[in-house]
Amino acid sequence: MQVQRMILNECSYFGPGARKVLGEEIEKRKFHKIFVVTDKSLLEHHVTAKVLEELDNHLIGYEVFSDIKPNPTVASVLDGLKKCKDSLSDCILAVGGGSVIDTAKAIGIIMTNDDHRDVVSLDGSVNTESRALPIIAMPTTAGTAAEVTINYVITDEERKKKMVCVDPHDIPILSIVDTELMSEMPENIAAWTGMDALTHAMEGFITKNAWEMSDMFHLQAMTMINRHIVNAVLNHDMESINQMGVAQYIAGMGFSNVGLGIVHSMAHQLGAVYDTPHGLANAILLPYVMAYNGTVCVEKFNRMGEAFGLDMNALTKEEIIQKVVDHIFALNEQLHIPKRLIEIGVVEEDLKMLAEKAMQDVCTAGNPKEVSASDLLEIYQKAYK
Ligand SMILES: NC(=O)c1ccc[n+]([C@@H]2O[C@H](COP(=O)([O-])OP(=O)(O)OC[C@H]3O[C@@H](n4cnc5c(N)ncnc54)[C@H](O)[C@@H]3O)[C@@H](O)[C@H]2O)c1
Ligand SMILES: [Fe+2]
Repeated sequence: MQVQRMILNECSYFGPGARKVLGEEIEKRKFHKIFVVTDKSLLEHHVTAKVLEELDNHLIGYEVFSDIKPNPTVASVLDGLKKCKDSLSDCILAVGGGSVIDTAKAIGIIMTNDDHRDVVSLDGSVNTESRALPIIAMPTTAGTAAEVTINYVITDEERKKKMVCVDPHDIPILSIVDTELMSEMPENIAAWTGMDALTHAMEGFITKNAWEMSDMFHLQAMTMINRHIVNAVLNHDMESINQMGVAQYIAGMGFSNVGLGIVHSMAHQLGAVYDTPHGLANAILLPYVMAYNGTVCVEKFNRMGEAFGLDMNALTKEEIIQKVVDHIFALNEQLHIPKRLIEIGVVEEDLKMLAEKAMQDVCTAGNPKEVSASDLLEIYQKAYK
């Protein structure tokens, strides 16, 4: 066996109402002022308010920053950075989906690593000198698992690039996965973010660096997401929402440490060029990429099929791959996710450019099967119409 590294949060809480621990956890650490990072829509939906109430109950001072949009930008990071400095806070509390938590991570890193104040120099794997300003993360989507990963993704609008920034210094000191914060997600966002989590589990399971411990996380995440995603999204069943909150975190413990593959490389380009929601882009591409990757990891496809509860007995290699791919198509259909990229406004003439950009993405190196730009173009074309 080769040497492996595993980085996880020091402390995490899970379950409905888990936010009740927030006040005490902050008091214990003696932070004097909290810079709350969230977004406008979460303020409007009174999701952030549930957390602010905890700070108020404990008389903890805070300032709120909420100028963040999905697929968050360099400009947003710079704006938040200035406000964070001016607020003289000693802790960042992120309440939101991946876009909010990722922006908080970028702000936190630059607060303690001023040489990266241009933001764009954080692109890729970067060894910053200092740990980020302490970050507490409270996810409101069951999706990215940004609360436990060592990554954050920021869009450089100038280059139309989603920068995948990998840096262990950004990991939150505390994460609180309070599933009550996720319970009123609109159906489409719950479906997309849930499929993002499934993509993490499946890509993380077959990525080049996968090993026994990451396999354990990813298989469990697949089993749980498959069991609960439809019930959580379509029926708003609270126990399934609880299980989705845990499952996406479990997937995060895996992929954060071993990487992903070309579903993410290709999805990032759709986010950068068309501002496609991250989970939606992944969900559409997932079955097409799995059909491409299957030939090099059939045994793992068999195990994925078993995790989905499918009968995998007496199948040929081709049938094993097809059965898993069909299962993803069926899940997408149940969740009302489109089957083709043409349906979400992707332009056919752009596919070659998207394929060339996807080749450069950090996640491409982790794909189990070697790819060229023309392979990526072919997959985009198959997914197009
Ligand atoms: N850091 C990582 O490891 C990692 C992993 C995967 C993806 N990402 C990145 O995360 C971003 C996507 O994050 P996301 O999928 O969580 O979505 P998001 O944070 O972009 O949120 C999408 C929308 O849902 C709304 N929303 C979120 N929670 C809600 C709730 N509980 N109720 C009502 N509305 C709610 C938000 O206000 C927003 O309008 C992308 O930029 C993606 O690249 C990061
Ligand atoms: Fe993702």
